[in-house]
Amino acid sequence: MTDSERGTGSDQSGGGGDFSLPRHVAIVMDGNGRWAKKRGLPRVIGHQAGMKALERTIDNAKDLGIRYLSVYAFSTENWKRASSEVQGLMGLFRYYLKGKISQMHKRGARVRFVGQLNAFPDDILRIVTDAEERTRGNSEIDVIFCVNYGGRQEILDAVTSLVKSNPDGPITEEMLRNRLYAPDVPDPDLLIRTGGELRISNFWLWESAYSEYFFSDMYWPDFGREELKRALDSYAERDRRYGAA
Ligand code: IPE
Ligand code: IPE
Ligand code: MG
Repeated sequence: MTDSERGTGSDQSGGGGDFSLPRHVAIVMDGNGRWAKKRGLPRVIGHQAGMKALERTIDNAKDLGIRYLSVYAFSTENWKRASSEVQGLMGLFRYYLKGKISQMHKRGARVRFVGQLNAFPDDILRIVTDAEERTRGNSEIDVIFCVNYGGRQEILDAVTSLVKSNPDGPITEEMLRNRLYAPDVPDPDLLIRTGGELRISNFWLWESAYSEYFFSDMYWPDFGREELKRALDSYAERDRRYGAA
């Protein structure tokens, strides 16, 4: 599919684009724990079911012509959870990354990871680097995993690096934007949050300034093609004005 069939989306120039398909869809994958609890299962089983939902969402997004998909998998605040849950999540990342990268590569996905990755064990870091290198040439869809990601930390990292390289000069929006974790990825056009909470929880703080929001009551493990289409249909109805009249 070409960019014109997709709609070019992400028009940050102002003046209200009427593109009906978002170029970048970002998702706060929330509700795994409650999904498990409702079934009398441990939280980690909810996370496992969440991985399956992620797998089908990547396929569905690609099928539907989404060019960039970013997913919030672990926040800088999620370390507050019980160590058994954090360990369970690390185990799942390991298993998922090892097993699914080839599949994503075959489907033409470029995979990358953003966040403070150095907090992860060496073996996970190696898998992450290998996955990024192997899939670098793919261009069907970019899948951006936000792990140990925090929007405030991302802005702080950008400011720190800017001040270091440019201690005296004026700082422009563009200069700061270029030092965020994925400067070449357009800002999210559509930001979906599952799980019923109506908050951003430190996701894409800078980049979501003009994102359209879609909140779903569905727990993430139940999320599928129909709910994604409902979000896209809702997006298609929006009038993005970027402050213009
Ligand atoms: C989202 O599901 C996944 C992560 C934060 C890793 P939760 O684990 O937050 O599920 P709930 O919100 O407790 O149901
Ligand atoms: C946001 O969900 C983070 C991820 C989905 C990775 P949380 O469950 O951590 O958010 P809060 O605590 O409800 O705000
Ligand atoms: Mg949650």
